[in-house]
Amino acid sequence: MFDLEGRVALVTGAGQGMGVGIARALAGQGARVAVNDLIEERAKQAVEQILAAGGKAVPVAFDVTRLGEVETGVARVAEAFGPVDVLVNNAGNAGGGPSMKLMQFREMPVTEWRRFVDVNLYGPANCCKAVLDGMCERGFGRIITISSGAGQTGLPIGISLYGAGKSAAIGFQRHLAMEVAGNGVTVNTVSLGLMSNVGDSEEVQGLVATQPTGRLGTPEDVGAAVVYLASDEASWVTGQVLGVNGGTFLA
Ligand SMILES: NC(=O)c1ccc[n+]([C@@H]2O[C@H](COP(=O)([O-])OP(=O)(O)OC[C@H]3O[C@@H](n4cnc5c(N)ncnc54)[C@H](O)[C@@H]3O)[C@@H](O)[C@H]2O)c1
Repeated sequence: MFDLEGRVALVTGAGQGMGVGIARALAGQGARVAVNDLIEERAKQAVEQILAAGGKAVPVAFDVTRLGEVETGVARVAEAFGPVDVLVNNAGNAGGGPSMKLMQFREMPVTEWRRFVDVNLYGPANCCKAVLDGMCERGFGRIITISSGAGQTGLPIGISLYGAGKSAAIGFQRHLAMEVAGNGVTVNTVSLGLMSNVGDSEEVQGLVATQPTGRLGTPEDVGAAVVYLASDEASWVTGQVLGVNGGTFLA
């Protein structure tokens, strides 16, 4: 089950954190994986990990917020491995991990707003644009976008614009799923809870205590969900938001 042999996957923001877990999991099921990151060195290191484990991977650095760069990157993936069958929109810029930035809306400079929507909504939109025509022509495609419980609920902790970007991505994916459902292309969202890369400060320890499962999520938890949605077996699952969050948010 969930054999991805022969499939080509592109995972964005996969140089560290959840993305590298997703890339490892897809490669572990036999997919050839293009590892994207804004920071080339990170993408190369993630590729080395996958190759060392016996998988197939290439690094492809580009900025998901720039359509021209995305199109060039997707063309490089096609040269290396063939056209993209599975796109995982994982790149994000806040709401967890080392890049987490908490700021109350009233204190946030207007100049800060756009970047949350740029990477969390337009990033997936650019990547979908670059791969969708080919997927529809070939009659097969899997698009999986990594969102957050922050896009489905309200929190007082200072992530309003991030939540807006993640929420917008969910809406975009739902509509896109309906537009391409007749073309063999599924489009789903994986909505994460608090993940293990948020550090181990006292504050984080306090949050662990509030988790129904008593632990934070891991890259392996996310990777397993993505493998399922990428598989042939998930062909009748589309337009869905799958919560991988240890029960912290019940949609
Ligand atoms: N970590 C959490 O607790 C958590 C919770 C909910 C949702 N998420 C979501 O999960 C995804 C992965 O989160 P993470 O914690 O692993 O993030 P991370 O910050 O650890 O890693 C993100 C990677 O994306 C890359 N990136 C950033 N902007 C990019 C761009 N414009 N183009 C290409 N690459 C770019 C970064 O260089 C980085 O290597 C994100 O979409 C995030 O919003 C994370």
